[in-house]
Amino acid sequence: MIMILDGKLTAKNLRAQLAVEVTELKTKASICPKLVVILVGNDPASQVYVKNKVRQTQETGMVSNEIKLAEETSQEELLKHLHQLNQDSSVHGILVQLPLPAHINESAVIAAINPEKDVDGFHAINAGLLFNGESSGLVPCTPQGCIILAKQYLGNDLSGKHAVVIGRSNIVGKPVAMLLLQENCTVTIAHSKTINLVEVCQQADILIAAVGIAKFVKAEWVKEGATVIDVGINRIINHEGTASLVGDVDYDEVVGKCGAITPVPGGVGPMTIACLLKNTLIAAKHSVEN
Ligand code: GUN
Repeated sequence: MIMILDGKLTAKNLRAQLAVEVTELKTKASICPKLVVILVGNDPASQVYVKNKVRQTQETGMVSNEIKLAEETSQEELLKHLHQLNQDSSVHGILVQLPLPAHINESAVIAAINPEKDVDGFHAINAGLLFNGESSGLVPCTPQGCIILAKQYLGNDLSGKHAVVIGRSNIVGKPVAMLLLQENCTVTIAHSKTINLVEVCQQADILIAAVGIAKFVKAEWVKEGATVIDVGINRIINHEGTASLVGDVDYDEVVGKCGAITPVPGGVGPMTIACLLKNTLIAAKHSVEN
């Protein structure tokens, strides 16, 4: 029986659990976790993501607000905002929504966030700690979500499984590979230059697709019974001229072949936000300890 990995429900349960911990932190330490999300420009998809992040943070009992900056905002001005937020002890988490407009250097912006408030886990300090297996919890959100969903089908022990990750971004591909390695998987990172990509994918017990190409992964690529985690969110125009969201996996084909699969939408997406809330709570708890 194929298992559809319900990210919406899993995220809802995780948020409920986090809400209990937020209440505890408020009563025991008189601290209310606060997340500030910065959006630069008018990208419609980013606007929706940011709105959802802020709303769900508030619904979990935390404080959240959005700083909206115009498309033409200079890098210097964005950095000024970050310096202010770094200094503000009431702020525990800072997130700058990506992608940024082309005139702003993403690496410089990420580097300017206090690593203790870097709830995306993108700062070189947090990436390095993850690489070393010493992370204190600020691990990139989408990769965390992928692991939680894979474990719903495979159980907590992923040891010895062959995981193939398609995509090598700093946001998903590289950090999810590190998490899988920590779980004692044998990990292959495949990408646009990989030779024999289909044959590589056919070996995967766990196949994670994070390439940003609609319906890229076909049934032929998937080993019978594999766990397929689809990170892609691609907007396509159907034959009828209507728009819809599809993943990097050709779901209708692959669903008949795999053991478990995440749908799009409703799979990895909701988990990303739930894990962001988790990271915000972790950052707030750390601020009490320091
Ligand atoms: N854009 C797409 N995914 C993400 C994410 O996880 N964090 C941020 N900051 N921007 C994104």
